[in-house]
Amino acid sequence: MDRTFVIIKPDGVERRLIGEIVGRLERKQLSIVASEMRQIERSTAETHYGEHAGKPFFGDLVDFITRSPALLLVVQGPGDTYKVVRTLMGATNPKEAAPGTIRGDLAIEMTENLIHGSDSPESAAREIALFFPQLG
Ligand code: RTP
Ligand code: MG
Repeated sequence: MDRTFVIIKPDGVERRLIGEIVGRLERKQLSIVASEMRQIERSTAETHYGEHAGKPFFGDLVDFITRSPALLLVVQGPGDTYKVVRTLMGATNPKEAAPGTIRGDLAIEMTENLIHGSDSPESAAREIALFFPQLG
């Protein structure tokens, strides 16, 4: 089986959309194999979003992802799981995300786009190790 890493971001928890978002993942027949509600440390967020360090939105992105608790999830499927999750998420900018996707149906601002999903198998392995070191 094949795993990826997902965050229901602080806006998703604040808006009480955990059930809605996890329900969409489960209806697709993906499995939640680990989960933790956690307010992400600033240093962990900076490592997680390290590819964006130095970009103009980096500070706001770290402020946002650390502002209140987020739900961290390891999600499992039969293969290409990161792609399946990215498809369910929709485009990064919710104004451009297709109807039927999580961001397309439920979000409107780029900064508050509800969900993170790893963008490659390598990112998935790195992010699972960062947030769930006990899983390797
Ligand atoms: P994520 O990592 O959060 O799952 O989102 P993503 O892959 O769809 O997008 P990514 O390019 O990794 O960007 C991470 C987050 O940074 C914010 N962003 N703002 N102002 C901008 O141009 C800009 N670009 C990205 C978004 O909130 C995005 O989710
Ligand atoms: Mg990304």
